[in-house]
Amino acid sequence: MKKGRYQELKQILSHHDYLYYVLDRPEITDYEYDQLFAELLKFEKDNPSLDTSDSPSLRVGGKTLEAFSKVNHRTPMLSLSNSYSPEDITAFDERVQKILKGSDPVEYFCEPKFDGLALELIYEKGLLTQALTRGDGATGEDVTENVKTIRAIPLRLKTPNPPPLFEVRGEVLMFKEDFAELNESQQENGQASFANPRNAAAGTIRQLDSKVTAQRPLRFYAYALGVVEGKTFVSQQEIEDYFFSVGLPVVTDYLQEPLRQICLGPEQVIQYYHRIEKLRHQLPFDIDGIVVKTNLVSVQEDLGLVSRSPRWATAAKYKPEQSETLIEQILVQVGRTGALTPVAVMMPVRVGGVTVTHATLHNQEEINRKDVRVGDTVIIQRAGDVIPEVVSVILSKRPKDSVPFTLPDRCPSCQSKVIKAEDEVVTRCVNPFCPAIVKESLKHFVSRRAMNIDKVGDRLIEALVDAKLVTSFSDFYRLTKEQVLSLERQGEKSADNILRSIEKSKKTTLPRLIYSLGIRFVGEQTAKSLANHFITLDRFLDANQEQLLEIPDIGPRVAESIQSWLENKDLVREIKKLEGLGLSLEAAKRKSTGPLAGKSFLITGTLPVKRDEAKDLIEQNGGQILGSVSSKLNYLVVGDDPGSKLEKAQSLGVQILSWEDLKKML
Ligand code: IVH
Repeated sequence: MKKGRYQELKQILSHHDYLYYVLDRPEITDYEYDQLFAELLKFEKDNPSLDTSDSPSLRVGGKTLEAFSKVNHRTPMLSLSNSYSPEDITAFDERVQKILKGSDPVEYFCEPKFDGLALELIYEKGLLTQALTRGDGATGEDVTENVKTIRAIPLRLKTPNPPPLFEVRGEVLMFKEDFAELNESQQENGQASFANPRNAAAGTIRQLDSKVTAQRPLRFYAYALGVVEGKTFVSQQEIEDYFFSVGLPVVTDYLQEPLRQICLGPEQVIQYYHRIEKLRHQLPFDIDGIVVKTNLVSVQEDLGLVSRSPRWATAAKYKPEQSETLIEQILVQVGRTGALTPVAVMMPVRVGGVTVTHATLHNQEEINRKDVRVGDTVIIQRAGDVIPEVVSVILSKRPKDSVPFTLPDRCPSCQSKVIKAEDEVVTRCVNPFCPAIVKESLKHFVSRRAMNIDKVGDRLIEALVDAKLVTSFSDFYRLTKEQVLSLERQGEKSADNILRSIEKSKKTTLPRLIYSLGIRFVGEQTAKSLANHFITLDRFLDANQEQLLEIPDIGPRVAESIQSWLENKDLVREIKKLEGLGLSLEAAKRKSTGPLAGKSFLITGTLPVKRDEAKDLIEQNGGQILGSVSSKLNYLVVGDDPGSKLEKAQSLGVQILSWEDLKKML
């Protein structure tokens, strides 16, 4: 009976991963998923003898490795010949025709060339037993622990009679949106940000601590076979259809545009190349070209390979959108964790339809690698179509008197000596009283997802800190009206609003409070887990390493960071003071009543209010926010400049609401 529930939970969770990642049609909210997941984890903790080899609990990661072991591929992972010009597709076709000596147009299977990282998944009797990187093609690295945390990858194939051996090849990648979010939190936590989604995916798959990989949003698309026993295929089309049928994600269509296509002869392939090029920037992930494969496996066998590339496939790449501009200045910003980030200020330039003026230079290592200097003319491109990236310096245009750029050895804000740990790329100011760090910490504390003190903006914090009226979190709750009025440009009315908004923030929840402390590596999700585990603030403040490590999604690195924060008795005392100042923590309950109860919502475009505010409003009225458009979505709330969600929702017949329509429902 109990065991039955365990099997059922495993199946339910795998099914929801499948709905989300393979079908792109989620049926439950993240919250409901988390509840089921927690039930599963508890079950396994209470019953240590259970077989967990295909359990979704593997998704949270496991032990930390010393190094990855090297493993030979059963059959080499090949590379593709490629070019940047669609005319070469014709040349490719001519070579194919010549070998085949046929006269009919060749059937080609075309699909996007994903800009990620090639991976081999090995399934034995349907169970995922090993995952290898491509490496040099002959030998890869065993990244199994990490790959098991990727929810898009099934731990067991969805078929009653799986082949005894089934090697699947495909690409690991990160969606552009997820990449932008990850970089934001990396920066917040004072960790190195990534130049583009590809680097982020590569860095993530090569993490020795699989708990870190588990926290990062990786995706996977299958596109080729390795060694297979007990099953044969006639065509590439059939291979990918089989992938899909056993629960592996394959790229199908996007906004009702098919992304894979069978093309007869080179002209159709060239048309496909241009069609996908137009669609390219709208896709949720980066592609750098198309891959053209002869569709029939028999034809592939006839063509064979030359050196390390198959003669039956080729890649036609797209040129990245780049522009040239001049670096006028390199600023050094000090973040909340003291991390120094160099930022290039450039002459405004348009890249891929957007004007850009700033590009992050990440850290000293990156600057050295590219030797970027003030006064340099550089090529920039938009990485992952979001953040501009300096690709290279045009050395011929470098001014004669230019000098290499090095980060200052003193903090630009407090002038204290900065420190760079040997095993880190980030340079840091470690003065806890550094005004820049204090200001950034306070900004985080008041931010919407944290304590939500909405009338206290960045400018006010700068003024409050400069006037020494606020230097710690608790100071907000001691502010008097006279003090606020003593600042420049503060009138009666705005002072009242400020104090009222501070007062309002006293009613909050434990997850919010923990998140607002700005502990390194403790984002919203981890804050929620901590709150769920410790239930009360005091118990959290008394936590030790051992208790922290009991929490499934907390690894040694995060635990250590929390521990060292808790060891700072000044900080702990500071937080305990908050309760004395009237802070009250209510249990974070989900509302299941209200005018929007039982209905699901998603937002696209710009609304008259902030996105988070709109989400909160919906949730406070009993509605649920879904992660993506699906047939389970009841309403799409549409603002200005809606994204691709609108078209998708319309095609699924989802009801569309304006902001006004939504307000009428309340
Ligand atoms: S098929 C025989 N399909 O391109 C080669 N490869 O140069 C079988 N790639 O490292 C590969 N998207 O990571 C294939 N749709 C796709 C691909 C793809 C990206 C990458 C792959 C490999 C490289 C080959």
